[in-house]
Amino acid sequence: MRAVRFERFGPPEVLGVGSVPEPHAGPGEVRIAVRTAGVSPVDLALRAGDSPSRDGLALPHVPGVDAAGVIDEVGPGVTGFTVGDAVFGAVDVARLGGASARFAVLAFWAAKPDAWSWEEAGAAATGVETATRALDLLGLTGEQDTTLLIDGASGGVGSIAVQLAAARGARVLATGRPASHAFLTSLGATPVAYGPGLAERVHALGIPRIDRALDVAGKGSLDELVALTGSPDSVVTLADFTGPGRGVRLSLGRYGGQPDGCHGLAFAAEQAVRGRFRVPVQAVFPADRAAEAHAAVATGPRRGKTVLDLTTLASGA
Ligand SMILES: NC(=O)c1ccc[n+]([C@@H]2O[C@H](COP(=O)([O-])OP(=O)(O)OC[C@H]3O[C@@H](n4cnc5c(N)ncnc54)[C@H](OP(=O)(O)O)[C@@H]3O)[C@@H](O)[C@H]2O)c1
Repeated sequence: MRAVRFERFGPPEVLGVGSVPEPHAGPGEVRIAVRTAGVSPVDLALRAGDSPSRDGLALPHVPGVDAAGVIDEVGPGVTGFTVGDAVFGAVDVARLGGASARFAVLAFWAAKPDAWSWEEAGAAATGVETATRALDLLGLTGEQDTTLLIDGASGGVGSIAVQLAAARGARVLATGRPASHAFLTSLGATPVAYGPGLAERVHALGIPRIDRALDVAGKGSLDELVALTGSPDSVVTLADFTGPGRGVRLSLGRYGGQPDGCHGLAFAAEQAVRGRFRVPVQAVFPADRAAEAHAAVATGPRRGKTVLDLTTLASGA
């Protein structure tokens, strides 16, 4: 089958469209004819050869963990879904990719809501799963009057975490570069600039207290987040591996192995139907311009996800 793939590690230009073997759905999996696939930071790191998982990667490698499309194979043990269903989801984390192809095998998925375009659906899964897991770990249940600070809020995970936290009743402060503040406001957050001096800027907003903080960016803000909340127990990081050494919990996903592999996807889709949740898509590139998509994600600014349109792979164009 045709796929976006790279045969050697390197800059975005190593990406191209070529042939790879077709995957098939195993137990508990579905295969989809892919319409769209999100581009994530992990895809960039794997392509560049910067990821610790580099040694486990067989080349050529097909990047991409998130995808949306129409089911064309149902693996043993799967119930409630059938060939022809429109779904969005993610590949098994152990595969490290495979989404940006004519066909992809999903390890967890949910029905695509009609309210979402294919581009939004292809961008959603990892952001929703990651944000849901982090908000659960922070104990954000929606029952209390909570103020949450999200550092690194304008990207793929952060823009989803802002909305899901607001849906749980939290007041959300969200960091971003000043040019992204209107975007953060449109998601329902109070924006504040990221970088050193964050605590002073938050105090200057006159906000009496920060109850919880989520570090999405992993850019060295943990000391300030702990100072703002008053305790490392009130902070979770998704990307700063020094966190546990400071008593801050690091949330890492192994979504394929979780008992509830579809964690949060159905909830997000339900919120979308009610008009309360959207998947911000910054840009869409066709498969043969995947290198441009990776370059755009690397440079920022991020305002949601960058997505590949893979429908041209079916026509052979
Ligand atoms: N633990 C997990 O399970 C898990 C799952 C998924 C992703 N991740 C990791 O989480 C991180 C974020 O993922 P993502 O998909 O949201 O990435 P992304 O789309 O690239 O977004 C990164 C965000 O960080 C912001 N940022 C850049 N420099 C910053 C700074 N100094 N301080 C605060 N924010 C800053 C960016 O803003 P500008 O673009 O405006 O600069 C952008 O909004 C990545 O490291 C990713 O690998 C972890």
